[in-house]
Amino acid sequence: MSTTESHPFAILFDPVRIGPVTSPNRFYQVPHCNGMGWRMPESLAAMRGVKAEGGWGVVCTEEVEIHHTSDLSPYFEGRLWEAEDAPALARMVEAVHAHGALAAIELVHNGVNAVNLYTRATPIGPRSMSVVGGSGFEPVQSRRMTLEDFRNVRRWHRQAALRARDLGFDLVYCYAGHQLTLPMQLLSRRFNDRTDEYGGRLENRVRLLRELIEETKSAVGDRCGVVVRLAVDELMGDEGITCDGEGREIVAMLAELPDLWDVNISGWSNDSATSRFEKEGYQERYCGFVKSLTSKPVVGVGRYTSPDAMVSAIRRGILDLIGAARPSIADPFLPNKIKAGRHDEIRECIGCNICVSAENKLVPIRCTQNPTMGEEWRRGWHPEVIAPKSSDEQVLVIGGGPAGLECAWALGQRGYQVVLAEGRDEFGGRVARESRLPGLGEWRRVVDWRLDQIRRMSNVSMYPGSQVSVHDVLEFGARHVIVATGSTWRRDGVGRNQWKGVAGHAAPNVYTPDDLLDGRMPSGRVLVYDNEHFYLGGVLAERLATDGCLVSVVTPAALVSYWTQFTLEQARVQRRLLSLGVSLYTQHTLESLEGGYARCSSDVVPEGRVFEYDAVVLLTDRLPEDALYRSLRPLHDDGRLGSLRCIGDAEAPGSIAQAVFAGHLAAREFGEVPTRETPFRVERWSGVTRVG
Ligand SMILES: Cc1cc2nc3c(=O)[nH]c(=O)nc-3n(C[C@H](O)[C@H](O)[C@H](O)COP(=O)(O)O)c2cc1C
Ligand code: SF4
Repeated sequence: MSTTESHPFAILFDPVRIGPVTSPNRFYQVPHCNGMGWRMPESLAAMRGVKAEGGWGVVCTEEVEIHHTSDLSPYFEGRLWEAEDAPALARMVEAVHAHGALAAIELVHNGVNAVNLYTRATPIGPRSMSVVGGSGFEPVQSRRMTLEDFRNVRRWHRQAALRARDLGFDLVYCYAGHQLTLPMQLLSRRFNDRTDEYGGRLENRVRLLRELIEETKSAVGDRCGVVVRLAVDELMGDEGITCDGEGREIVAMLAELPDLWDVNISGWSNDSATSRFEKEGYQERYCGFVKSLTSKPVVGVGRYTSPDAMVSAIRRGILDLIGAARPSIADPFLPNKIKAGRHDEIRECIGCNICVSAENKLVPIRCTQNPTMGEEWRRGWHPEVIAPKSSDEQVLVIGGGPAGLECAWALGQRGYQVVLAEGRDEFGGRVARESRLPGLGEWRRVVDWRLDQIRRMSNVSMYPGSQVSVHDVLEFGARHVIVATGSTWRRDGVGRNQWKGVAGHAAPNVYTPDDLLDGRMPSGRVLVYDNEHFYLGGVLAERLATDGCLVSVVTPAALVSYWTQFTLEQARVQRRLLSLGVSLYTQHTLESLEGGYARCSSDVVPEGRVFEYDAVVLLTDRLPEDALYRSLRPLHDDGRLGSLRCIGDAEAPGSIAQAVFAGHLAAREFGEVPTRETPFRVERWSGVTRVG
């Protein structure tokens, strides 16, 4: 691979000097946590190593706690409290350096964001206040920091920087972002009411950040570049830092101090906004000013997946390095693909934040687009490499939704002959249909990328509009069948806390999401009953309200679209629904639908509530479409089929990410003999603890 002058994206491959070190190109994987952290160093190192292999010039850790008073448990971040924490991080440095990339570490003291649930240390912060971390509603307060505390924080930071340098890190962060860190909390008037040299005018509120930068430079600056991550706008107007107010002033004050500015917006839900709410490059309007105030290089983010947008951001003088968290998760090989002129093969992030949900659920990172994410070490999966076929068998994959498409593609990659049959005229299953709903257009990438890849393969043939029966399977002579026929929404209202059908559900004015996705739209007063709790109820309500319906969302959960809090969207979903005039009723359970009246019981309103409606949309459980699979079982049992497997929603309805994963897993496992009961490696206690 070489980048010549004629390469349309050559500028992306310019080396960039960052203090004493040089990034080999402009691709910069910004810090991102991953649910593995200090608990799974092998998994973490393998994941970061794959990014470096894929061409990212800089690969960064997630936030790394510098002291036990900055304990983010139960979340699993990086840790560098003591020397004993170093070996775990050394693994990552090795993995990143092995591919010629720079390794960066984001050191952090989390101040009033740290609940210290594990360490039971007293949280510290600019003032005595309720901590903001954990659930956001923890009954814990911080202690107002003394001047000695400030000296300690500086000492801990310096010590961690020295350890990071000795571990071989090339870039060391001073992190003032996301409202999550002590330096940023001091910058903010909301957190900082101090009257000493750390409070009051901005020069004082900036003091700790300035000290950390200066002291990190003096400690490790000869060997490591010193990076500042700063939130230049909190999207709170005058209540917070703004890019035309104090955000700008802070950059001006510290302009030449760090070796690199990593700038973004705050809080995390603004920074990692989903595609439902923000599009590629959405942070440019806030961060665009930074380069005009400093001669140091600037990295910024905004879900950049297209090389044109990246080049444009550089040519317009907005960024020097293209920062990416999610695009590097969805396609760790994005830089190499651009370099090789294969940018049309980039597996573009769809902006769904399933990756974020894993962090919030305390489990290893996963990705809708990239099923190998988080599986690099424990399953040995690589995003670009898959074991070749072990036989010349042909596989019939029935169902061309996310599971079937992924399975057919991955089997094709392995070299198998694959026949992919889809009942509808269009491939893509639920993704093709849901991506037509408001804000979900980019989700279509799940289908488009796979279709595009499959069309390039001569060993995978596709048959849309093909409803397959048992007879067809026999006639076709298939020996190996994988069934990925999806699921349908239940019409009877049965769900997790409703084991009997809802009375009145069979009426013609009771709809399911499938009806709406097939174009059968209700009108008038529509009650959306959401007992599923992820995005779809909210999106359908939005669509109905935009179509002119008078919409009420009723849900047993305490929040509308409850699960979207884990993808950082819940507040935005609620705001949008309210702005469209949608009425929201939480903690209500649907009991019956009769005569145009929906009767609900409630945990909080003893007498319950009755809603008058013209139409009802029920989002409750789904039914696996597994009739074909069950009919094929006897053929498998009597040996007429060599193998038979049911995957994705047809096996157990779940997320799109899980369907893609299931398709990938089935392809990887096809023809292989399992060697272990637990089909992946588990990181276990290795016997290393502090002695004494
Ligand atoms: C799963 C995930 C974890 C993140 N963890 C961190 C973190 O530990 N520290 C940090 O500064 N930013 C973190 N971020 C924010 C990213 O660094 C980045 O600023 C943001 O996602 C916007 O960039 P993107 O659009 O390229 O994803 C995280 C983002 C994601 C998606
Ligand atoms: S999970 Fe979704 S948002 Fe996260 S990287 Fe993958 S596609 Fe992008």
